[in-house]
Amino acid sequence: MNEKKKNPAAPRGGTVPVAGPARADDIEPSAGKAAVPVWLILLFALLFFWGQVYLDHHGGGFSAQVYEPFNRFEDVDALRPKGGLEAKLALGKARYEALCAPCHQSSGLGTPGQFPPLVASEWVLTAGPGRMTRIALHGLTGPIMVKGQPFNGAMPPMGEPRMGGTLTEEELAAVLTYVRQSWGNNASEVTIDQVKAVRAATADRNSPWTADELTKVSEGE
Ligand code: HEC
Repeated sequence: MNEKKKNPAAPRGGTVPVAGPARADDIEPSAGKAAVPVWLILLFALLFFWGQVYLDHHGGGFSAQVYEPFNRFEDVDALRPKGGLEAKLALGKARYEALCAPCHQSSGLGTPGQFPPLVASEWVLTAGPGRMTRIALHGLTGPIMVKGQPFNGAMPPMGEPRMGGTLTEEELAAVLTYVRQSWGNNASEVTIDQVKAVRAATADRNSPWTADELTKVSEGE
């Protein structure tokens, strides 16, 4: 049996075509111009929009100090544990807003004719805190001049437990420091020891102060 092996690749009939009919993908490719499809433009527009929104939500205001999920430095800063003077001022501000601001206002400007201002007040900006510590401890009553304006009201005792005051010595030091160092005021920090010293010196005091009595307290105390 020597049957000739058939070449499976050979076309039927055994003839090899010289030039076959052109197939679709044989056409020579050519470069030309074509309009960008509308869907592609829309897709990019959407991507761009999404990118902007993403940046807005996660960009942290382009601040290196801000991280997700926060957007503003103030938000991050509010959560930062504070120490020293910063913590004291934060406590002072909280107590001020709760106990003093109803009369003296958050701005420290008071109400003309009714509640005197603490901003740039000569009773606040004394070298030592002796006078204002007495005011906060036992209250103040009767006529008083503040920044050239007369007042004649009554401030309740706020720090002496005997007289119904609720502020602790630590809170007093904090709130007085806050008043002395806010709204442009720049007097010295008030320490707990200074508050203790004033309390010791006024241990038998049971009535609010008058302006006349306070002027006898040295400004440096
Ligand atoms: C109920 C309203 C009221 C509250 C609360 C109050 N004060 Fe006063 N404060 C007054 C009045 C009224 C005067 C003026 C008293 C007078 O006319 O004799 C005054 C006067 C003062 C003065 C001296 C005058 C001046 O303006 O510098 C200081 C300092 C002061 N207050 C601090 C404080 C602090 C600190 C607190 C909070 C711990 C506080 N006050 C809470 C009503 C208030």
